[in-house]
Amino acid sequence: MSLEPLKREAAARAVALVTNGMRLGLGTGSTAKHFVDLLAERIRNEGLVVVGVPTSEATRLQAESLGVPLTTLDETPELDLTVDGTDEVDPQLRLIKGGGAAHLREKIVASASKRLIVIADETKEVETLGRFKLPIEVIPFGLGATRRKIEAAMAAAGCKGPLVMRLRADGQPLRTDSGNFVLDADLGRIPDPEGLADRLDRVPGVVEHGLFIGLCSAAILATSAGIKVLGSLEG
Ligand code: A5P
Repeated sequence: MSLEPLKREAAARAVALVTNGMRLGLGTGSTAKHFVDLLAERIRNEGLVVVGVPTSEATRLQAESLGVPLTTLDETPELDLTVDGTDEVDPQLRLIKGGGAAHLREKIVASASKRLIVIADETKEVETLGRFKLPIEVIPFGLGATRRKIEAAMAAAGCKGPLVMRLRADGQPLRTDSGNFVLDADLGRIPDPEGLADRLDRVPGVVEHGLFIGLCSAAILATSAGIKVLGSLEG
């Protein structure tokens, strides 16, 4: 069964939270794409006035093509609400993001927002983070040394598993919007997400990892039985 209708349902619930004058962070990925579509519909049909900061070049192109007014964090350093997808969410609203390699900009935008609400289909809800490979964006310089430090950080946080360079379809290393590489850590289970995040934050050469901790205020999960909300949608 296609998950697209569920993703769109979650996006529709989130777009209903948008009010006139809001400064929005616009997420990246297939679910966030529905949100931008539906936001553009409200701008067109209701004259909704908002401004958005895109979290990737892909989202910027989509928003521009649909006539969603855009700004930057230089012009608008504080946002009211960011709506983004997620790769995993646990009961404490801790996330793994970066399946689309956009987690660096996504985390900057989420941190600049009063609220981050993630939208997803039900398959993204987990008891323990780690089934999804943890994306870690690294500077190309010194890759071998950075990799060793990341492996040591993972071991110290009680995690183990292969660390694999993300490749494009043509076999070349994927480059993020900021020109960096992504290493994907296949950990299976992350027993202490805070401990791992903290250790990765201290590795020189790691630009950003996909653990979003203490950033998310609510998750809108579309299930076959209807919408399920983790956390609070109140502003
Ligand atoms: C982009 O880097 C990611 O953080 C996405 O937000 C995440 O991968 C969710 O994407 P989908 O909505 O396509 O599953």
